[in-house]
Amino acid sequence: MTEPIVVDSVAALRAQVRDWRQAGFRIGMVPTMGALHDGHISLVRAALERAERCIVSIFVNPKQFAPTEDLDKYPRQLASDLDRLREAGAHLAYTPGVGQMYSAGFATKISVGGPASGLETDFRPSFFDGVATVVAKLFLQAVPDCAVFGEKDYQQLCVVRQLCRDLDLPVEIVGAPTVRDPHGLAMSSRNAYLGEAELAIARKLNVILRRTASAMATGADEAGATGEAARALVSAGFEKVDYVAARESVNLGPWRRDRDGRLLAAAWLGTTRLIDNVEISST
Ligand code: PAF
Repeated sequence: MTEPIVVDSVAALRAQVRDWRQAGFRIGMVPTMGALHDGHISLVRAALERAERCIVSIFVNPKQFAPTEDLDKYPRQLASDLDRLREAGAHLAYTPGVGQMYSAGFATKISVGGPASGLETDFRPSFFDGVATVVAKLFLQAVPDCAVFGEKDYQQLCVVRQLCRDLDLPVEIVGAPTVRDPHGLAMSSRNAYLGEAELAIARKLNVILRRTASAMATGADEAGATGEAARALVSAGFEKVDYVAARESVNLGPWRRDRDGRLLAAAWLGTTRLIDNVEISST
């Protein structure tokens, strides 16, 4: 089993990357906020299929949390994260502190348009600015050859692809399929907030989305099907539905029946907000 090197400074990260480059290794990266679960480990595996060395960053990025969100209670569990990384064969954990990422006087923000418009942004207006800013910093600090992101955060994956295209960041972005529990619930660090009764409701999200996507792929009208899905989520026990929406799958423009699509949703269970998405096959 590989013992991951742990570094918390840009200088130490770059020194290690330089050594690996001199040795001719291809380098993959998995950006995370820690609280690692099987979904993250699948991203590490995907990185290791494409690169000889894998860096996992663990940084709870304050810039992607609104003041009303769960920054303080977001799970932080470095010791068990390192255990998981050792088992998965990751080579380096990059664990910068907030002061390392955002030094005093930090005043830059990266704002992506295109796929960042709508959906999450309608409800979390600064979220993708925070994600794009930290991901750009991580890529400039480590300069990996490739980076793996989960399709679970589908809009984020599209935004990161757009960011790299627009800023010529030389990082190949790889999307990895969502890992689900045996009931189809997408793995998420926020599932840790759910009690047993809430988990049973949460597990209906993917069922309702898959049913809706399949109805749309076989002719159901978009507005009718997404409206019906939102009502089904409330009947299942979700307190509030932020959106259930269909988009084309590359740039998240309007859904078209003749293109591959995605059905995306965000809904609340108590104080926990869950997101998920499924494919809508083209006809
Ligand atoms: O998906 C996440 O965990 C975060 O949004 C990311 C990409 C690590 C940026 O902080």
